[in-house]
Amino acid sequence: MNIAMIGTGYVGLVSGTCFAEMGNRVVCVDIDENKVDQLKNGQLPIYEPDLEHYFSRNTSEGRLTFTTDLAEGVAHAELIFLALPTPPGEDGSADLSYVLNAAGEIADLIANEDDDRYRLIINKSTVPVGTADRVQNVMEEAGLQAGEQFDVVSNPEFLREGVAVDDFLKPDRVVIGTSSEKAANMMTRLYEPFVRQGNPIVVVDERSAEMIKYAANSILATRISFMNEIANLCEKVGANVDKVRLGISKDHRIGRHFLYAGIGFGGSCFPKDVQALHRTGRQNDYNFKILDSVLKVNDQQRELLAERVIDYFDGDVSGKKVAIWGLSFKPNTDDIREAPSHIIIRALLDAGAEVVGYDPEAIETTRRVFGDAIDYADDMYSALDGADVLVICTEWNAFRRPDLADVRDRLAEPVIFDGRNVFDPKRMAEMGFIYSSIGRPS
Ligand code: UGA
Repeated sequence: MNIAMIGTGYVGLVSGTCFAEMGNRVVCVDIDENKVDQLKNGQLPIYEPDLEHYFSRNTSEGRLTFTTDLAEGVAHAELIFLALPTPPGEDGSADLSYVLNAAGEIADLIANEDDDRYRLIINKSTVPVGTADRVQNVMEEAGLQAGEQFDVVSNPEFLREGVAVDDFLKPDRVVIGTSSEKAANMMTRLYEPFVRQGNPIVVVDERSAEMIKYAANSILATRISFMNEIANLCEKVGANVDKVRLGISKDHRIGRHFLYAGIGFGGSCFPKDVQALHRTGRQNDYNFKILDSVLKVNDQQRELLAERVIDYFDGDVSGKKVAIWGLSFKPNTDDIREAPSHIIIRALLDAGAEVVGYDPEAIETTRRVFGDAIDYADDMYSALDGADVLVICTEWNAFRRPDLADVRDRLAEPVIFDGRNVFDPKRMAEMGFIYSSIGRPS
């Protein structure tokens, strides 16, 4: 099928590449000329495992191309995906200006064509309930006829950064929101190769599809904040959150995913989407109380390790050197948006500490935020030289089994604050560490 992917951010690039991998012809459109040049030269602007392999194959075989020319994309495509940013506005609701402006430009281009080909306009961005209707209005205002010349579809994505290619190629489910049978059939044809193992394509109305996306992210975020509160209570009563997790996860109604306590959720999705759904409630005279608490617990949890380090030094960290392992918001990405590590670093700097950071992928992205305010280490061990404490913010695999004797020798004091529970507290005590983790006895 002929596809245009409007927006080459993380979602657009992964989706465009994976559609091309299934034999579709995909033109990706972006207004950022530098980015398009970079992509044309075979360079990916993001780090995402496996993406490079599929990107190289599909660009070299000509199924995946890039342009800044929206008209080229629209002329090429029967399926036009909008994968544009929806940043939180000042009041927490999603800012739809990118989506609606692009829809307006696409509508004008289609309205000026000689033929009257039928198009699907597909929202892939995470957008508030009712956005498909707003996009439809924009198209109609340009004189286009819904059902004849176009239909609008909501098709939310459920990709996790770090495993996005796998998630796209083998989704648990595909959600298609449309009230048009023709649109549903085209979308089903597009996605059938991705669900050959029998996972469902769920076809619902537009508003339900939009709500599914927010409900999915919000329930996952709720699980994390819930487990973080259980962890905090475990510390007070002498229980161990890891054992509690194992015990509850065997109940198939609960399951084993997204029950890891830590230093809170970050990334470009959970904080933004939970806030936006809360805001949708407010706009509809509904106070979604759980979501408010989910966010408050998360804010508190992201501050936790900085508070612990400051307490450890009796409130005075001036001149103390803190090594941070892990800067990305989670492993296998260089994405630092809403990363707990950055909140911890900011609090430590404000309190007068010196910070040295190490991350396998996210040093450059962190440098863009903190510049020279912190130091950056070339490898995980040299970050420790002369540091007073080590703080672990992201559970990269390389941090799970380090040479602990070397870690101990390099640190000025053998003190570790572990925000991701990567070590066994008993072994750490045996090795002479002062070790503090989340929700487990020291
Ligand atoms: C999330 C969802 O998992 C995807 O399904 C969704 O498509 C995506 O948002 C989106 O809306 O685009 P992502 O933000 O990439 O994906 O990352 P997750 O793996 O979900 O992790 C989010 C945060 O939760 C991370 O900071 C992670 O450290 C934290 N987390 C996750 C925990 O603290 N505990 C857990 O048990 C799991």
